[in-house]
Amino acid sequence: MAITEDPNKLFVPTYARSGAPMVKGKGTLLSDANGREYLDFGSGIAVTALGHSHPAIVEALREQGSSLVHASNLYHMEPQIEFARLLIDNSFGSKVFLCNSGTEANEAAIKFARKWATKKNGEKYNILSFTDAFHGRTYGALSATPQKNFYRGFEPMVPGFYAAPFNDLEAAQKVLDEREWAAIFVEPLQGEGGINEATAAFLKFLRDYAAKHSIALVFDEIQCGVGRTGALWCYEHFDVVPDMMTLAKPVGGGLPLGAVVCTDEIASCIAPGDHGTTFGGNPLACALGVIVLSTVAEKSFLDDVITKGKYLKQKLERCCETEPRVEAVPGMGLMLGVRMKEDPAKLIQACRDKGLLVIKAGHNTIRFMPPLTVENEEIDRAVEIFASVLAETGAG
Ligand SMILES: Cc1ncc(COP(=O)(O)O)c(C=O)c1O
Repeated sequence: MAITEDPNKLFVPTYARSGAPMVKGKGTLLSDANGREYLDFGSGIAVTALGHSHPAIVEALREQGSSLVHASNLYHMEPQIEFARLLIDNSFGSKVFLCNSGTEANEAAIKFARKWATKKNGEKYNILSFTDAFHGRTYGALSATPQKNFYRGFEPMVPGFYAAPFNDLEAAQKVLDEREWAAIFVEPLQGEGGINEATAAFLKFLRDYAAKHSIALVFDEIQCGVGRTGALWCYEHFDVVPDMMTLAKPVGGGLPLGAVVCTDEIASCIAPGDHGTTFGGNPLACALGVIVLSTVAEKSFLDDVITKGKYLKQKLERCCETEPRVEAVPGMGLMLGVRMKEDPAKLIQACRDKGLLVIKAGHNTIRFMPPLTVENEEIDRAVEIFASVLAETGAG
């Protein structure tokens, strides 16, 4: 179909989009309608973990698509069962709730935590999150996202949500000591807010505090989970286990799929009718979820992510070493950032013009999150493009 009109005329302007529509993907490469090819180092915002058009994904789409695409959550469906079994066998959790997106996973986790906590003590409904967190766009998840630029104009937020400074034990303790809590939400590695790693000491403090005060510790691994950091779950790096974990983005292999993984104790407070979704855990999405999880959970696959992550990080560090505009190259595995001393929007556009897709995080970071299947040679090309953009836009 030849598109002749400006597509921006058709949509509520929630995104600032430009350029020809994207029409095709293969591995790390994405092509637009003009036949231009891009190295996709954003992975559709951390979604396409196995790259575009992975043969096993294409096959699962065909197979599940020709047997069952929807039956509803009034019935069991085989791909859901297989997917839930994989989640449970490969994590701390013993129960799973399936939905369609990250924000829905966090909404469910907020509800589950409140039901669990208020059952013990009617006052325990407050939810704590941290500065620069991003948990989603619907009202509960948005209320747990203490960044003005996301909620300005949409107030009032949901009551009972508070924030404390990320990675600051003393400040967090002070806020926590002020009231009763249902849950603490934290991203072990913040994505949207910049590539900000939690410290092990901070997560351990939250774990201990939550256990002592019967608060649900919720790890939002929507962006940093599913192998992205070189461990299946980011929490494995820190030796800290949550009571609930929320997942989405890569877990559905490109289809909308989200999950809450939790303990039996939390799940036991939820009864039929307490929560639900028409599409959540759709069998087609779950069939892809089975491919993603069973592939990524392999030790050799995860080892490879660590090796390629180190390779990319070293190359980025080397290319930024003499660049005065770069502050740091933070991140783990293949969730890396280049933190600038200025707004990187122009650099990101210049990369795109040269065939490299990267994404802004926070106000000053460029995210590098290629598919976990990226090749070293593609990393070389991407860093070459980035280096040339730095050179061409530098002060000198
Ligand atoms: C850590 C985190 N939580 C939640 C969300 C919201 O996910 P979704 O856009 O699928 O609603 C995102 C999306 O960027 C995220 O990065």
